[in-house]
Amino acid sequence: MLPAIIARRGSSVPEFIEPPMPPLPEAGELLCRTLELGVCGTDREILQSLQPALPPDAPYLVLGHECLARVEQVGPEVSEFRPGDLVVPAVRRALGSQPYRVDMLALGEFVERGIYHEHGFSLPLWIDRPEHLFRVTDRIADVAVLAEPLAVAEKAINEACTVQRARLAPGIWTDDPPRVLITGMGPIGFAAVLAARARGWPVTMQGRDAADTFRARLATRFDLEYVQFPATSDAPPVEGPFDLVLECTGSDEVMLAAARSLAPRGVMVWLGSTRVPKSKTHNVERMMRDGIIRNHLHLGTVNSAPRDFLDALRHLEYWIDRRPEDLRRIITRRVAPQDSLWDYSHREPQGIKTVIEYAPRVAAD
Ligand code: BGC
Repeated sequence: MLPAIIARRGSSVPEFIEPPMPPLPEAGELLCRTLELGVCGTDREILQSLQPALPPDAPYLVLGHECLARVEQVGPEVSEFRPGDLVVPAVRRALGSQPYRVDMLALGEFVERGIYHEHGFSLPLWIDRPEHLFRVTDRIADVAVLAEPLAVAEKAINEACTVQRARLAPGIWTDDPPRVLITGMGPIGFAAVLAARARGWPVTMQGRDAADTFRARLATRFDLEYVQFPATSDAPPVEGPFDLVLECTGSDEVMLAAARSLAPRGVMVWLGSTRVPKSKTHNVERMMRDGIIRNHLHLGTVNSAPRDFLDALRHLEYWIDRRPEDLRRIITRRVAPQDSLWDYSHREPQGIKTVIEYAPRVAAD
């Protein structure tokens, strides 16, 4: 029996439990089977917090929010999908009717599967509704588990485009691509690379690793410039300037250094953060002064809109056509559910994305 992977209050260690049998799909519902599941920093942070946001009345939270699934059964009145279809589910769902796009809602206005007050996908079978599922083609089946983190990077870029077009010019960044700096080389850093390079934008990636190591070499396969982080915090910033900074480390030090490379009218999007921020002493006033004089915009973004999921799926198709092997190398480790607990508290050196294989992608006849 494949286990469900859960987080409990007061424990930083994930546990296996026997998964509950899902009910049969009712009208407007589908039964889905998890095929592959990505492990991410959010899963580790939920565990480290010792305070998972449990669903009402549940003693635990079933983890798992980056998922590739197959539709097993459709309930009455479902015409959008058929059994056998491959899908990726959205993470966030609005509570009741809300005036804003789902990814713009505030805490208390939504649930997130596997993260915030609703069980996730680290179990064999679960129920969902068609409006939360995105169809996946067979061509990208072996990388489609990356769609969710990629959608997070697509949102960052789409939001930056929206605000720059509103405040500068409607056509900006179409014929004149922005110069992009991506800080960090974790899964979101690589997602940002896929999203920015698929748009044809020139990218510099700044990371901790030496240039001759696996992640730095893989990054350059996507035709970008790689720069190793300066060894000290007072080293000069990366030479730019950059019109768009995608900050994927969550480090205030890296963010402040990157802000110094931001061009006049530039925008920095914050994609990384730490759940337990610590106070430190940094010269934030310099960032404020530069921000004012140069009309900088600092934008926080989280989650993704349906628009961003569709861009993510489109860009996975783009890269599977052009760099199939390099795209696949972003998944650095594949494990069976029974062997996956280690990955919830560790990252391998040079690892990018761990994927848990729940079921074969091709259905048994
Ligand atoms: C997920 C997002 C989610 C965010 C905050 C991220 O790991 O990819 O979908 O909104 O965590 O919970």
